[in-house]
Amino acid sequence: MSHVFDPKHKHVLDDPGRKKWQDPELLIDWLSIKGDETIADIGAGTGFFAIPFAAMSPSIKVYAVDVSSEMLQTLKDKQQKAGLDNINRILSDENGIPIDDAAADIVLAADVFHELVGNTKIFEEIKRILKDDGRFIVVDWIKKRRVVFGPPFRSRKTPEEVTSILKDYGFALRRQADLYPKHYTLEFTKH
Ligand SMILES: C[S@@+](CC[C@H](N)C(=O)[O-])C[C@H]1O[C@@H](n2cnc3c(N)ncnc32)[C@H](O)[C@@H]1O
Repeated sequence: MSHVFDPKHKHVLDDPGRKKWQDPELLIDWLSIKGDETIADIGAGTGFFAIPFAAMSPSIKVYAVDVSSEMLQTLKDKQQKAGLDNINRILSDENGIPIDDAAADIVLAADVFHELVGNTKIFEEIKRILKDDGRFIVVDWIKKRRVVFGPPFRSRKTPEEVTSILKDYGFALRRQADLYPKHYTLEFTKH
């Protein structure tokens, strides 16, 4: 059973110190965003990544997808405060992502891949909503035995494990980066 994030801890996602070790701008730079992409943020939570992506350009369209209405409510409050109308919040369930086929240039799974493992439908769904030349980005916790913060050791996956799991769903690793001290960043394309 995967470790699932409890919404009662949602304040940690917006801890002011988080940007020091996981600045979304570093990911935005690495992706060379043009400014007109459609981005589906799966497990968007309170919008730590969705908000800066949307703030880049009004021509960017962000789908902020989450199974928790509580997380999406916090995201809505932050979105309104920031005056962003290019984020479409989507309440999903374990069985599917209610987004059209081939709608997304980029699908992002930030700090959530370890929660998705074991869900037999989700990676098929991510493939379905991604354009043929789209990119699937996984940012997740480095697997370290001494864990003081983040998901437990047993839930974490190495980049090799992520690559092997996604290969079975038709994704190939294209490149990777060490943008963050506690996380790896992987970019996958469809085979
Ligand atoms: C650890 S939080 C990360 C939130 C955000 N990506 C960030 O980096 O701040 C994980 C989020 O994924 C959501 N989640 C878990 N399983 C999901 C699924 N199958 N589909 C969509 N969201 C999911 C949880 O409700 C939670 O809001």
